[in-house]
Amino acid sequence: MTDARRPGLFLSFEGMDGSGKTTQMRLLIDRLRAEGYDLLETAEPGGTPIGLQIRKILLDSANQELSSRAELLLYFACRAQNVDQWIRPALAEGRVVVSDRFTDSTLAYQAVGRGLGEGIVREIHRFACREVQPDLTVYLDVDREVGLARARARNQERAAAAAPDETRIDDEAAEFHDRVRAAYARLCDQEPSRIRRVDAGQSIDEVAAAIWSAVEEHIAAHSLRKATADV
Ligand code: TYD
Repeated sequence: MTDARRPGLFLSFEGMDGSGKTTQMRLLIDRLRAEGYDLLETAEPGGTPIGLQIRKILLDSANQELSSRAELLLYFACRAQNVDQWIRPALAEGRVVVSDRFTDSTLAYQAVGRGLGEGIVREIHRFACREVQPDLTVYLDVDREVGLARARARNQERAAAAAPDETRIDDEAAEFHDRVRAAYARLCDQEPSRIRRVDAGQSIDEVAAAIWSAVEEHIAAHSLRKATADV
């Protein structure tokens, strides 16, 4: 929902493993910066220094005994900190906030993937995020096989670089990921004006162009601060 009274613009990205989310976020952020917008880049789980500590618990593959309820609350603890410390102040200042994932991830992975239910997730969202909701969410929809192939290639690169073991969710069974994908499809149907589904099977340039056209529509509806002062 676009709130034209709010000066800032809140954009989030959603997508499953291998959807090209990282690449597309980077392209959008570079373009927004090149156009002079004052930007806050953040991620869930993570973002703030406290959020990064919570992220370690959430994604550590050693934490197999982490319960679904504890996991849900940790995602929201992380998000509440991000909203209070970074996102709300940035929006109030007229900045563009770009978040790698937000509550839609919890609606897909915890509400449906873990089976905790949409009602409780929406309720905790209201408490944790205090009305903060993205104006536009880009959902990069990737075919199961394409996503898996891209993710495998990336994981091999990570293993070669001895990156930290952040695979607790990636390690879930195929049917978990199928439930998550179906949940995203439903969210797109429920909120078509906020969530823009983009076919991530297209070329990088085509995907980037589709995202930019969606973002441009929203830029016009907000009064945004430019990072460099106008002469
Ligand atoms: P991350 O390393 O950030 O990967 P990605 O590139 O997929 O965003 O891992 C985030 C993982 O956490 C990802 O598998 C999705 C999961 N997740 C949830 O289960 N619930 C949530 O609310 C969020 C934000 C993420």
